[in-house]
Amino acid sequence: MSVEISPQFLAPVLASFRREFGEPAVVVRSPGRVNLIGEHTDYNQGFVLPAAVDRGIAMALRPRSDRRYLLRALDLGRRLEGDLRDLVPHPERWPNYLLGVLYQLQKAGYSLDGFELVYGGDLPMGAGMSSSAALECGLALSLNELFGLGLDRLTMAKLCQAAEHSFVGVKCGIMDQMASLMSQKDHVMMLDCQDLSFQFVPFPSSATIFLCDTQVERALAESAYNQRRSQCEAGVALLRKHAPDVHSLRDASLEMLDAHRAEFEPIIYRRCRYVIEENLRVVAACAALESKDLPAFGRLMNQSHQGLSHAYEVSCPELDVLAEAAAALPSVLGARMMGAGFGGCTINLVEVGQEKAFVDGMAPAFAKIGKTPKIHPCAPHCGAERLL
Ligand code: GLA
Repeated sequence: MSVEISPQFLAPVLASFRREFGEPAVVVRSPGRVNLIGEHTDYNQGFVLPAAVDRGIAMALRPRSDRRYLLRALDLGRRLEGDLRDLVPHPERWPNYLLGVLYQLQKAGYSLDGFELVYGGDLPMGAGMSSSAALECGLALSLNELFGLGLDRLTMAKLCQAAEHSFVGVKCGIMDQMASLMSQKDHVMMLDCQDLSFQFVPFPSSATIFLCDTQVERALAESAYNQRRSQCEAGVALLRKHAPDVHSLRDASLEMLDAHRAEFEPIIYRRCRYVIEENLRVVAACAALESKDLPAFGRLMNQSHQGLSHAYEVSCPELDVLAEAAAALPSVLGARMMGAGFGGCTINLVEVGQEKAFVDGMAPAFAKIGKTPKIHPCAPHCGAERLL
């Protein structure tokens, strides 16, 4: 199922921009992403299998002759104005994704003039579809076009990741930014986060992606995310005493981990074991996708969820209920929590033709978590692009 971008997606942003500033010089669409499998592996130099989707952020801009920026978040009804020479993190969250990009671009030596910007779109915010990376990457691409900065997409992805580290305080990996900038329509991206090489695998025409939204605010997510990252680093430090060639969990094997198990705190052992197993699952899942063995692919998704819930402990009761209910439905090939965790969405691979059976089948699970069903169908789409 491939959904085309509707003109309705752009209309509110363009109307608002024209009302306030006149004609935009650049308009960009920057997508959210899903991740089929490979969770919490990116910052461990491992493998991930994301895809940009047909939902995203639309952003319109025009330059100013001074060094001021003017940002307007249409859906939030918020705006912010300031000087490009004076960038510090803002007490509100939304501007920091943008301010961080402005800061990192200038830090890297790119000279920016002032600009006016309006953004909106159809990407649910805070649902774990990486609206943050969509925002960062949308701005990087827009400014690249607006000021002819000559940035390639890999450099943009790294700058956007640094923006999130420095201005938002989340030590995220690079999966979301790579997916938002590099994806190809109707494909998933097998990304090796160690050397950032990637290959595209066609998304099967016999399956559809549905996201089930827990509607749970990811309150714990940031501190727990950074803590998971430190726990993995602690595991690497321990292994390195024995094997100096181990620079990340990507270089470690289950045999190596088990050989030194006695030295590990149980919690660190569990975290490391999950990451090493998840990397193996991504490789196996990719092979399953290439040989069109969707039942095998789905089983790996289910196993990934179990690992995230019990060993990595980044799930929450609502995610567990939705993922487990989905996995038990005959229409579902595989289901798991997606993204950082503690809320957001589950990702479900559903057989084409079984869409209604899936939506109906999930109703009792939503009732169980006390939420009105919120299900987002989405399809793999291309990365961020200039529209005007
Ligand atoms: C968030 C981060 C990503 C990745 C996922 C978990 O989306 O931004 O870098 O670590 O969590 O897989």
